[in-house]
Amino acid sequence: MKSLIPPQLKFQPLKNIKATSALRAMLYAEEFWPEEILNKPSVSLKTTTGELLFLSDPFLVKEVLTRNDGTIPRSRLQQRFAGHGTGRENVITDIGKRSAMHRKTLAPLFSPDRFNTYFPFIKMTLEEAIKPIFDAIEKKEPIDIGRVCVNGTFGVIWQILFGEDKKLTPPLIVEQMANTLYEAGLSGELTQTSKAVKQAKEISLSLRPLVPLVSDTPFAKNPKINLQLTNKELEDNAQFLLTSGHESTALTITWALFLLAHYQDEQELIANEIKNILGNKELTLDILHKLPRLNNLFNETMRLYPSAILVNRETIQDVTVGELSIKKGTQIAVCFYSMHRHKNYWKEPDSFNPDRFNTLNKEQLRAFMPFSTGHHSCLGGKLAWLEAMTILTTILKDVKILSCKNSIKPIARYTLRPDGPVMLEVQKRN
Ligand code: HEM
Repeated sequence: MKSLIPPQLKFQPLKNIKATSALRAMLYAEEFWPEEILNKPSVSLKTTTGELLFLSDPFLVKEVLTRNDGTIPRSRLQQRFAGHGTGRENVITDIGKRSAMHRKTLAPLFSPDRFNTYFPFIKMTLEEAIKPIFDAIEKKEPIDIGRVCVNGTFGVIWQILFGEDKKLTPPLIVEQMANTLYEAGLSGELTQTSKAVKQAKEISLSLRPLVPLVSDTPFAKNPKINLQLTNKELEDNAQFLLTSGHESTALTITWALFLLAHYQDEQELIANEIKNILGNKELTLDILHKLPRLNNLFNETMRLYPSAILVNRETIQDVTVGELSIKKGTQIAVCFYSMHRHKNYWKEPDSFNPDRFNTLNKEQLRAFMPFSTGHHSCLGGKLAWLEAMTILTTILKDVKILSCKNSIKPIARYTLRPDGPVMLEVQKRN
């Protein structure tokens, strides 16, 4: 394995960090995350809006995220920030009992029980989305792989919510939304993102007429527990799932392909695994479970580049977590990025080594949390796995990635994204 270290975020020593608000400190990681968080369990930062506690120790993090007494809820900052883009009455922005109700209603939609039903259209949607790669091969041009991934994963969520038997094609504004978000994200500027927020309002308007069409489907109600979402809640959940659900998955797949452009040996090993297991057969769900090297790539990509680098909680009274006494009103940044590269848990934390997932010890398993844990853990993690495994298999069986034409580094703005379009040079695989 080449020992080249893939690009990473560079943090500042605590003593050099300038005063700013807690929200800014969480969002602009390279300017405001203390580098000590990569070797300490927690670091406290005084901000202009109060105390911000960075956590990257898996035991402390688990205690915070699974606490049952309601003393460390999702923060109002995170709710407000997410609410700008996704509406205020959905699973990620509502609080307390309402949030639990959204979760109960949505959970069955993303349960692996449904994957047999979803798989044919997921496969079809992703096969359609990767066609531009073959056009690029033909024209001998590099391909902007992030855009391909966004179109694929956006199409999948659209199908799950509004497609299937309802046969609705996405209205233009929804397709434009994926592109606008993609471009706003590329620029990395929140001012640009606020342009995307304006578009988010438009998407919500365009979703409105569709909502009655899904009000009688599993998306809107959970008959087992007699729950029915209101139209506004449906609209806001659709908006959250369409925006965040596609973006986090697309980023993961983009990073995975970026890594393979640099690690040619690993790419060949994975392509051989696919050739041996899939051969000329039709891709099935079962086959996806028989690709351990590809699965390790998925995990190592999310360890190095977790698309959600943090989640935010706040204390509503004085609490004790492990040996930490935390004052009421403290903002807590649960930092998955630094947990995944923590020097106490990972050997050569910044190196790319998918094989490490063959021999994870219990501590490392605890320190790997790309989908969070506890009351608000990701509902779509298994769907993300299914999409990533399907598109990666479909691409790598026929396509060789020769290189990434431009230099890329990660930038952190709550999600972790490449700082420019990832332009891959590709050719047909023999
Ligand atoms: C690689 C892809 C993904 C990553 C890394 C990811 C990560 C996360 C994380 C870290 C959270 C926790 C938020 C918090 O604690 O405040 C979360 C929540 C959530 N995710 Fe994902 N996610 C991914 C894909 C998806 C997909 C594809 C869907 C569905 C379409 C989805 C649906 C959700 C939902 C509904 C929640 C909210 C759960 C709640 O608040 O109760 N995610 N995700």
